[in-house]
Amino acid sequence: MASPESSAAGGVAVIGSGLIGRSWAMLFAAGGIPVRLYDVDPRQVTGALDNIRKEMTLLAQSGSLKGALSAEEQLSLIGGCSDIREAVEGAMHIQLFQVFSAGGLVQTIQFTVAKWNTVYKWVFVCPLLCSAGPWGMAECVPEDLELKQQLFAQLDGIMDDDVVLSSSSSCLLPSKLFAGLAHRKQCLVAHPVNPPYHVPLVELVPHPETAPATVDRTHALMRKIGQSPVRIMKEIDGFALNRLQYAVISEAWRLVEEGVVSPGDLDLVMSEGLGMRYAFIGPLETMHLNAEGMLSYCDRYSEGMKRVLKTFGPIPEFSGATAEKVHQAMCVKVPDDPAHLAARREWRDRCLMRLAKLKSQRKPT
Ligand code: NAI
Repeated sequence: MASPESSAAGGVAVIGSGLIGRSWAMLFAAGGIPVRLYDVDPRQVTGALDNIRKEMTLLAQSGSLKGALSAEEQLSLIGGCSDIREAVEGAMHIQLFQVFSAGGLVQTIQFTVAKWNTVYKWVFVCPLLCSAGPWGMAECVPEDLELKQQLFAQLDGIMDDDVVLSSSSSCLLPSKLFAGLAHRKQCLVAHPVNPPYHVPLVELVPHPETAPATVDRTHALMRKIGQSPVRIMKEIDGFALNRLQYAVISEAWRLVEEGVVSPGDLDLVMSEGLGMRYAFIGPLETMHLNAEGMLSYCDRYSEGMKRVLKTFGPIPEFSGATAEKVHQAMCVKVPDDPAHLAARREWRDRCLMRLAKLKSQRKPT
């Protein structure tokens, strides 16, 4: 298996061209990495390529395009594919660049060009690939265990021993997703956060048989494309992000259900309060800074925290009268028709872009 450094670039086959597949494609292209987008529904690929072109043009116009390449250069790195074997074989061919001599390199490029049918792309990308090893496949099909397992069984039969197969799954355990695969050591979950282009976190979740090199290579690749990977040491339902998110949602729901605070004010507690600092420092560093260090915080506040935590209620049902009440409150602010929701998402993304710029300027990390 290639070293983490050498795998920090290479080709990626993105399987599933919906919301997350499109975002991965843009992020990999921003890192100068060629992408093959495949989908079981070819119209999705066409739609994804159109959508990516529009998005990249807008990002470039607003000065928010990631990476060192222009929008056109990045777009030239992304190609659609209607055949899964072709998409995966294309990704795997990239590793040949590493072992060929200069003379052989040209032959390999020509072969790959013919295979992926994108002359400009591969000629342009050639210098990047000369020093790059393979990475592999990013699966982004719907969150359905059986569907993903069937897909992985198919990929297992055509992938080789050097590529990484990652799943974007939000909450399916990797030991279930990859059970029984011959290439399971090369498999892990790389869970992005929506919208991935603007929120850099990626949770890397191995299963007990994932090779450490698989995690290292994915970590290196994520860093290369400007994402912020974290290593989840052992798989757990909900990984880290959703466990934290569900803890927050759960208490938010209870506070509204018990009539302690209105839905609108509850959201303000986060957006105007906790969220202000959580964009820069996490809950543990917050503790550290809110007293004279962590031990001082525990000494001062642990009894109070435990007292309050004991009053937390049971898991909410997320239905019935409270669901109606929260829904109505949300719709006053953002009506739930597609146009209003899309406009609000666009506003959110613009805010996230500005926040990302601000974060990139701050010095201590
Ligand atoms: P989506 O529904 O937008 O896209 C899924 C795509 O997969 C569709 O284009 C569909 O045609 C395609 N597809 C279905 N079966 C396929 C197959 N056998 N082979 C190839 N393509 C196939 O879904 P989305 O939102 O992009 O989610 C993908 C994955 O990412 C899910 O596992 C989800 O849990 C995860 N995820 C989603 C997030 C979100 O906020 N949407 C955030 C983080 C992870």
